[in-house]
Amino acid sequence: MSKQQPSPQAVAARLKKLSPLRPSLAIVLGSGFHHVLSRLKVEAEVPYGSLPGFPPVGVSGHAGQLLMGSLGGTPVMVMSGRAHFYEGHPMERVTFAVRALAAYGIRDLLLTNAAGGVNRSFRPGDFMVVTDHINLMGANPLRGAPLPGLPRFVDLTCAYDEELRRLLCRAGQKCGTKLRAGVYLAVSGPSYETPAEIRAFARLGSDAVGMSTVPETVVARQCGMKVAALSCITNLAAGRGRGTLSHAEVLETAERVKSLAAEVLENFAMLYEKNR
Ligand code: HPA
Repeated sequence: MSKQQPSPQAVAARLKKLSPLRPSLAIVLGSGFHHVLSRLKVEAEVPYGSLPGFPPVGVSGHAGQLLMGSLGGTPVMVMSGRAHFYEGHPMERVTFAVRALAAYGIRDLLLTNAAGGVNRSFRPGDFMVVTDHINLMGANPLRGAPLPGLPRFVDLTCAYDEELRRLLCRAGQKCGTKLRAGVYLAVSGPSYETPAEIRAFARLGSDAVGMSTVPETVVARQCGMKVAALSCITNLAAGRGRGTLSHAEVLETAERVKSLAAEVLENFAMLYEKNR
């Protein structure tokens, strides 16, 4: 961690002062998932701007708040919005919040995102439970000086926890939705992919493509957290459909399925508490 970075422990101490709640589950909201905030009984909230090390959040639809409260009766920490690598932040900055959550005592992390469907059977508005990932961002968040007390060479054989994945599927079933499952391939962005890239990514074994999540997963695994990830398939990836791609389309689909996304997350939080 570079010298300008504040310590995750200092931020964790601040978070502990915000509320006596001590959630063990944190959820990071990507595009399409913010509507869950309408179901959150908020106990405390703080803008990222007042948390040292947290980045300003740029993309429209991302609020830049950390909230604590209860979701479906379960205490949760919610990060509304995240830093993206494509914004130009170094990986350390992109993943700093995850280190702060780990220092706070979060044990289980649910990462959500918008993604393009590479798998030809996927449709916009589907949800995909991430079973594994392929990192083609061209960077690894653990690069750099080793961090004292943390493993240098982090095992990613079971990056996405099987039990949490099962809970996600059950959360989908509870609202009558069959969640898809598949491999998330991460690119740096911010341009969308070419059709040739998408054909290549399909051959590599990916089902969806996006510009986030993987750095957070890698750091969370280094910190010993269990991770689950859920993608909202907001569009067919480049060349998979007839038209061209736009952020407007991503936001439109996200808007269309926002209630379902919120319901899945609320069910997940409820099942999480029951199965702990
Ligand atoms: N590609 C990369 N990232 C994305 C996409 C996509 O098609 N859709 C939403 N995020």
